[in-house]
Amino acid sequence: MTCAAIIVAAGSGSRARRTSDTVAKQYLEIGGKAVLLRTLEQFLANDQVERIQVVIGPEDDTLYSAAIAPALSGPLATHAQAKLLPPVYGGDTRQISVLNGLEAIKMEDPHYVLIHDAARPFITDTILARCLASLKEHKACLVATPVTDTIKKVNAEGAILETIDRSTLWSAQTPQAFDYPFILQAHEKAFSQKLHNFTDDASVAEWVGEPVHIVEGSPSNRKLTSQEDLTMAETMINPTAPHPLTDIRVGTGYDVHAFDEGEAVIIGGIAIPHSHKLKGHSDADVGLHAITDAILGAIADGDIGTHFPPSDPQWKGAASDLFLKDAMRRVTERGGKLSNIDMTIICEAPKIGPHRPAMRASIAQICQISIDRVSVKATTSERLGFTGRKEGIAALATATVRLPEQDD
Ligand code: CTP
Ligand code: MG
Repeated sequence: MTCAAIIVAAGSGSRARRTSDTVAKQYLEIGGKAVLLRTLEQFLANDQVERIQVVIGPEDDTLYSAAIAPALSGPLATHAQAKLLPPVYGGDTRQISVLNGLEAIKMEDPHYVLIHDAARPFITDTILARCLASLKEHKACLVATPVTDTIKKVNAEGAILETIDRSTLWSAQTPQAFDYPFILQAHEKAFSQKLHNFTDDASVAEWVGEPVHIVEGSPSNRKLTSQEDLTMAETMINPTAPHPLTDIRVGTGYDVHAFDEGEAVIIGGIAIPHSHKLKGHSDADVGLHAITDAILGAIADGDIGTHFPPSDPQWKGAASDLFLKDAMRRVTERGGKLSNIDMTIICEAPKIGPHRPAMRASIAQICQISIDRVSVKATTSERLGFTGRKEGIAALATATVRLPEQDD
């Protein structure tokens, strides 16, 4: 047995977490496949790597099994059966997770070990081959890329202290490749001296005085650290995929119209026979007005009066679906989607209940969303206030809109 790989996947991925994420980044899917699985597949497919030890969080057994399941049944199944060792648990720091992985493969007695971050799924066979070639001559090798940005040293106030000569600077990546007995001993020594926070394994080798040799990496072998990295990774895998709509916005709308002489009120696009009509510049659809404002509120794009001033004669008698369609157009232009609408109509009369299904269908149709995303409720105000005195009708609405993430 000559070469083993350790894939560390025991981190919590705190910097990459969106509020909606319940799992760490290595278990998130990019391009429909878990990050950890993508990483693992590269090592399974490499002929020179004979054993693979994944290091996971102590609570992640189920997540791990689910993530790697496709590798056990797909084209790499025979490789997986031959190479993949049962996972072991990591520790509080990456350094301890690596040490646990190194200890776990003692029985395998490898000559070499490649230590790799699960969060670097774009590792290629070319880089693995470079590492393995370099190990023939060096005890410690580090995949790295030359720094391309100009680097500044900055003080606590954000003022630049100096520009550092970047010609000698490299960014460390993984794999970091070692003579196995050497790196095991170096890690054990660091741990025994209560040093637990080396952020990579080359630092541990440097600490014991071993020269570390640079192996050329690639900018695409990036570590997925932030949410932006995950979005970029998705685009790398699937350049035409739409951005996920994870920016959730909520808006509220409120409207009131007074009764006037007439025979029907229009609410939610439905005419309801009544002893009065609603007074207004347009068709006075108090429900659609509240919904329109809720949607505009969610995308912070003014209100109905901003876009359709009552002073403008062209909106006289206008059917209010026009206003709502315009708000929906604004959502679509932002690449967003309307998730749901919840409306409450406040009046003593007419009775709303019998018209609720028609109203929901009408609103769903105007907004081009399914009816189960539209809720219409009604209440009286116990004869209190203007609605209680039957002077008019009020409507409240809430809308949830999902927008693509944007850089703030
Ligand atoms: N890692 C680990 N054990 C730890 C910490 C990190 O196995 N205690 C692993 C991560 O799962 C990741 C790699 O080390 O694959 C690189 O670490 P990093 O990118 O910092 O990941 P996290 O520590 O999970 O993320 P964060 O620092 O944002 O919380
Ligand atoms: Mg970390």
